[in-house]
Amino acid sequence: MIYLNGKLMPIEEACIPVLDRGFIFGDGVYEVIPVYSRRPFRLTSHLLRLQHSLDGIHLKNPHCDKEWHDLIAQVIAGNDGDDQYLYLHITRGAAKRDHAFPHNVTPTVLIMSTPLLPPARELLVKGASAITASDNRWIRCDIKAISLLPNVLLRQMAVDVGAVETILLRDGFLTEGAASNIFLVKDSVLLAPPKSHLMLPGITYDVVLELAAANNVLHEVREISEDELRTAEEIMLTSSTKEIMAITRLDNKIVGDGEPGPLFTRLYQCYQHYKA
Ligand code: PDD
Repeated sequence: MIYLNGKLMPIEEACIPVLDRGFIFGDGVYEVIPVYSRRPFRLTSHLLRLQHSLDGIHLKNPHCDKEWHDLIAQVIAGNDGDDQYLYLHITRGAAKRDHAFPHNVTPTVLIMSTPLLPPARELLVKGASAITASDNRWIRCDIKAISLLPNVLLRQMAVDVGAVETILLRDGFLTEGAASNIFLVKDSVLLAPPKSHLMLPGITYDVVLELAAANNVLHEVREISEDELRTAEEIMLTSSTKEIMAITRLDNKIVGDGEPGPLFTRLYQCYQHYKA
């Protein structure tokens, strides 16, 4: 069951007008929220980030927190599987095509659930491959906008060569992945790029930094150069759907000793324990 504009319904029955500004302009924002054992993970943080995205596109939040909590509970209950991920999508609604904002239009609100499957065992044991590319997106990457064409093209570059992610560099510095945040390990210290308008403030990114602090993992948040990325002892990506994943090949070269490293293994275990 999905939720669309006030009603729960099977996805086959859901319809959106052709003039919806999400369809016409990509004029909307979204969230992806993991659900473990039927409980949404870090919901408060996701709703705060949603508010930040809505503010960024000057769209009034169509629901208060209590309403979001209720709607989300209904969608979780309406779907099988204890582990799911929710996709929340809000657009400026349907109106005659004109770039400027329409007046008195009701936003479109969609919530849908997908089973959340653990990553393939092989990826956990061996790690994944990534490539690098120049970050050619706009400079409000802190807004979780539904207009994702650059991210789509960048992710496809990875898939085309059998890799899982494209790691992005802007002006010689690491920003993030096409749909993930990136950490690396240098001199046994976990490094993360600082939040800015050039990357999405990941909820999993926050969790990993909190887990590092709570478990005495040396860590630093600072700008990371391309050279540091290419000579890292470990690289890992984080996202709500992939959790934490080791990157063991970058642009076809081995990272560290080519296996998921000790900091990845530790943080992965901490994350599994924390989410339970
Ligand atoms: N994407 N950066 C980008 C560009 C992302 O799209 C995502 C997540 C992240 C990680 O954020 P979080 O830890 O809050 O999931 C970073 C989601 C999963 C998606 O678009 O499907």
